[in-house]
Amino acid sequence: MKILVTGGTGYIGSHTVVELQSKGFEVIIVDNLSNSSAEIVDKIEKITGIRPVLEVFDLGDREKTADFFKRNSDIMGVIHFAAFKAVGESVEKPLMYYRNNLVSLMNILESMKETGVRNFVFSSSCTVYGQPDKLPVSEKAPIKTAESPYGNTKQISEEIIQDTIKTSDIHGIALRYFNPIGAHETALIGELPLGVPNNLVPFITQTAMGIRDQLKVFGDDYPTPDGTPIRDYIHVVDLAKAHVVAVNRMIQDKMKKAFEVFNLGTGKGYSVLEVIRAFEKSSGRKLNYKIVGRREGDIIQVWADPSFSNKELGWKAEKGLDEMVASAWKWEQAYRTENS
Ligand code: UD1
Repeated sequence: MKILVTGGTGYIGSHTVVELQSKGFEVIIVDNLSNSSAEIVDKIEKITGIRPVLEVFDLGDREKTADFFKRNSDIMGVIHFAAFKAVGESVEKPLMYYRNNLVSLMNILESMKETGVRNFVFSSSCTVYGQPDKLPVSEKAPIKTAESPYGNTKQISEEIIQDTIKTSDIHGIALRYFNPIGAHETALIGELPLGVPNNLVPFITQTAMGIRDQLKVFGDDYPTPDGTPIRDYIHVVDLAKAHVVAVNRMIQDKMKKAFEVFNLGTGKGYSVLEVIRAFEKSSGRKLNYKIVGRREGDIIQVWADPSFSNKELGWKAEKGLDEMVASAWKWEQAYRTENS
């Protein structure tokens, strides 16, 4: 059972490849390595004992994408991670984001139609809900105007997928991730942002490692118990496992509709300061941080209602915050030791 994982050398992609292989799937990764490295394939092989195939090209290239699908029309499913994801950068370079995230999606869907590949899993985000009116947020919550071009690419992508499904045999599942953090227990793969991290947890672990001087906490004057924003952090391995469930659901014809949407979160929200405390407790280190002004575009609070995913998928996030931050820290240390 062959699965194409686009962006499979990236953070969530690599963890998903590991889970797919451990359930007996044969994985082909397509990645242009714009934000990852080919060595991840070695790490995956070390964990699973199986080396996934890696083809390096840009899915924005229509001919190369079409050629890939012609050579691999026996693919049972596509999990599409490959996309840009930095909110701030998307505000600076909107066209780069629209081109990269939307053209590659259209090339893949077009090639799937041409070659009869039917099953498509899409990496979406809770960002489509904006600041929800009701918490926890369920899949039925309205889609709000996107705060950034990045968020807009997720909304438009879901629409492109739905419109394509109406006129083809393609089935789609959009997985809306909350805040994925943490790393594989082996510490062989994890989150490795290029340059200065935008996201909270890699910034914390790099600060503790001495790579960054100080973490800036963006605002403590929000209407939350400790004044800092609240998010639903989910362990990347729990998230990866949900992709295997989604692929199986499609292959085994268990879908209720041709397009389905699932929230992937724990259902629990933690503030920025709670994440810092959890990190300090599990690492035994004091983190150097400072409260500064709010970051533009940040919402106050969001956490998932995962009950539909829990029931329909028979999937549940199992790992708690302590395990998430401990695994992120173990990975940061292992990576820096190996690369020092
Ligand atoms: C956002 C998007 C998410 C997207 C992700 C990609 C929302 C709700 N979420 O996550 O869909 O996939 O970006 O990058 O739109 N923080 C600090 N200091 C830092 C970094 C972060 O205080 O140096 C705080 C932020 O203000 C926020 C929390 O930590 O309150 C989490 O931030 P981050 O990890 O960047 O994720 P989101 O912005 O929630």
